[in-house]
Amino acid sequence: MPMAELKEQAITLCNDLDLPLVSDDDNNYDFILKLSHNHLEVKPTGEPSISKGLWVDFVHGAARHRRLHGGRNMLPKAVGVKKNRRPLVMDATAGLGRDGFLLATSGCEVLMFERHPIVAALLADGLKRAKQHPDTKTIASRITLRTESALGYLTNISEQETRPEVIYLDPMFPPRSKSAKVKKELQILQLLVGEDLDTIRLLDLALTAAVERVVVKRPKNEPPLGDEPPSFSMSGKTTRFDIYLTANRYRRC
Ligand SMILES: C[S@@+](CC[C@H](N)C(=O)[O-])C[C@H]1O[C@@H](n2cnc3c(N)ncnc32)[C@H](O)[C@@H]1O
Repeated sequence: MPMAELKEQAITLCNDLDLPLVSDDDNNYDFILKLSHNHLEVKPTGEPSISKGLWVDFVHGAARHRRLHGGRNMLPKAVGVKKNRRPLVMDATAGLGRDGFLLATSGCEVLMFERHPIVAALLADGLKRAKQHPDTKTIASRITLRTESALGYLTNISEQETRPEVIYLDPMFPPRSKSAKVKKELQILQLLVGEDLDTIRLLDLALTAAVERVVVKRPKNEPPLGDEPPSFSMSGKTTRFDIYLTANRYRRC
């Protein structure tokens, strides 16, 4: 891509996100969002321990491995994916889109919501590249991203054209003391997004909106979100999925 076109894109992005256009050696900011020929990445400037930036790549590296060998991941099972059944999933807390992409890889249509504009910009950039690559374009075509809070959509669920069969929640939690070695990527996400403080409301709305089930990702040894016990859970080494079956109670309005 010619340099002038790249700069044009950077200016559009700055306007969309209401950010100043600076050079990448400008240290006056906590984070720098950098657009290159390869990708869009974010990097905290004041964290010397974090040398690499964060970007979304669904095509290569770990993502490729997950795509080819993701069969061991419990998430599709927790969501109810079967040979002849691929539910429509609302990923209400899309983040960097890994879980959502995994569900799209297993054949689900996924409606992603990400409310943090910078995280959503990284995700949109990763999805754009995934849509252009022959190995990932079919999977990425099953994904729709909305840069807004899922709370608004769920509050007005009766006005929506389609109801998600499954709603998936994986909110941010404060780092636990024992997990000081959180991965660099999660560290950046935590610095950028902080803690999600309205998760109980999100769960309450999801429970009345999902046609079939709500799936909540939790650290394995933490209690369930909210007061209501899940219908059942599936546990892995460090993660647990709490599953709330909703078929008997969702709002048919
Ligand atoms: C832990 S991350 C999700 C990681 C994601 N499951 C993945 O695989 O990359 C949580 C994300 O949910 C987003 N989030 C939290 N509440 C939200 C809401 N009500 N609507 C949209 N996004 C939300 C946060 O901004 C954050 O980026």
